[in-house]
Amino acid sequence: MTTFTVPARKLNTGAVTPGVALGCAAGFTVEDIIGSKAWFLTAIKAGYRFFDTAQVYGTEQTLGDAIRESGIRREEVTVLTKLAWHRCEYIERAFNESLKALGMDYVDLYLLHFPQSVQYPTGYDVPMDFDTILHGFKVLDKPDFHDNWAQLEKFYEAGKAKAIGVSNFSVKTLEALSRTAKITPAVNQVEMSPYLAQNDLVEYCKDKGIVIMAYSPSGHEKVRNDPVIIGLAKKYDVSPNQIIMAWHVARGVIPVPKSADPGRQIENITLPELSPEEVITISALDRNERIINKPGPDGVLYGWTKEQYGWA
Ligand SMILES: NC(=O)c1ccc[n+]([C@@H]2O[C@H](COP(=O)([O-])OP(=O)(O)OC[C@H]3O[C@@H](n4cnc5c(N)ncnc54)[C@H](OP(=O)(O)O)[C@@H]3O)[C@@H](O)[C@H]2O)c1
Repeated sequence: MTTFTVPARKLNTGAVTPGVALGCAAGFTVEDIIGSKAWFLTAIKAGYRFFDTAQVYGTEQTLGDAIRESGIRREEVTVLTKLAWHRCEYIERAFNESLKALGMDYVDLYLLHFPQSVQYPTGYDVPMDFDTILHGFKVLDKPDFHDNWAQLEKFYEAGKAKAIGVSNFSVKTLEALSRTAKITPAVNQVEMSPYLAQNDLVEYCKDKGIVIMAYSPSGHEKVRNDPVIIGLAKKYDVSPNQIIMAWHVARGVIPVPKSADPGRQIENITLPELSPEEVITISALDRNERIINKPGPDGVLYGWTKEQYGWA
């Protein structure tokens, strides 16, 4: 297989980031979270220098510990974390707790995890049971994402967040945000895979200078088992995941694959160079299908309708 070096990406702040980021969601048990440090260390050894965590993943501390233990310098890594959707009423506290958990005095990227702000009966704290986490919240009218973004702008201006961005935004919500924002988001992190190619969003963000990061970038077994993907994997003698990551990179998107396995971590940054025709063939697999964050039969996901998200 001929591989190529994944190109670095330039953000609208001028900062340069690696072209692939490691997904740092580890699962929700204490064992999962404590165990994440070991696979963060193997990822650093494999060459990852861009890490995607979030306050709700609970892995900020293990990530910070792994980075320090690895011996690499703080300036060599791009660390991204996200504001939990139920902490929009307490943004300053949440941001400072993220820095404390990471053991860092700044983050490279700070994102609004979702466009909506919600409130749990437990206030700042995460409820203890999963059902309440997923369904037991109230969606707030205020603060809205305009208010939340204005808070992130302050962290940027103070140099505590070197860049700021959003997640789970669409053309519709980005357009709305642009009417009140002083600063254009540096990134928009969204679910994206060959079955959810979102060509319109890719074009829109390219035009506005917003880098797209693809979460759940493989589309999991469903997309890995697609015959077109398998055919190309055989042609290049690589795994289906490598074909999918190469497709993202060819489109100028930063994929955020997660793997706890040292061999698969290396695979996900060792990519074949697809031809332009192959990129088009993979993009044509699009079915506008969300696999991870999927609205229910009522068209609602986490208290917002598809229309509110701006999802067709
Ligand atoms: N912003 C948001 O709202 C949001 C939402 C969801 C996720 N995320 C971010 O996106 C990251 C990735 O999400 P994800 O875990 O759904 O993505 P993914 O990378 O598409 O899928 C991970 C799954 O694929 C397996 N895998 C990884 N590499 C593989 C390979 N080369 N061959 C075969 N299987 C492979 C992993 O298993 P092994 O670990 O065993 O290899 C794991 O089961 C998260 O960690 C998080 O950082 C963000």
